[in-house]
Amino acid sequence: MALRKILTQGDPALSKVCRPVENFDHRLHTLLDDMKETLAQANGLGLAASQVGILRRVVVVVDSQGEMVELVNPVILSWEGEQTGLEGCLSVPGQYGMVTRPYKAVVRAQDRAGNQFEMEGEGVVARCFFHELEHLDGHLFVEHTDRLYTTEELDAMEQEDGQA
Ligand code: NI
Repeated sequence: MALRKILTQGDPALSKVCRPVENFDHRLHTLLDDMKETLAQANGLGLAASQVGILRRVVVVVDSQGEMVELVNPVILSWEGEQTGLEGCLSVPGQYGMVTRPYKAVVRAQDRAGNQFEMEGEGVVARCFFHELEHLDGHLFVEHTDRLYTTEELDAMEQEDGQA
């Protein structure tokens, strides 16, 4: 396994539409292993292959148990509800924005062997599904918000809240 470099906003790979995975071979397995190592190192909740410069429909998300789940060729089957909260991205380091997403979603994907499965997520996990799948179509969360906050700004806002 090896760490891969996480590309940041402005890199052309992040605005490309990724192609489906057709071969469930050792190259895919190496990519998935590397993505999981890279995500763990970055302490993130999800990572899409385009973020490491590979234009394939591959995503790793952290589930509600804290385990990483590999999603190959994922599609969102259904969703319900709504949540609004702070969202960030490893490709937009140090910046966060309020983004509204569905509260629950069901995703259908393939595992590293090509077997289809479905996964349900709610709260942060559902937010992650939408965030990561958007990466595969060349979109970033910043498109959903007019205002980005730095960690310092968020800390200052929390203090103000505490005093009010
Ligand atoms: Ni992201």
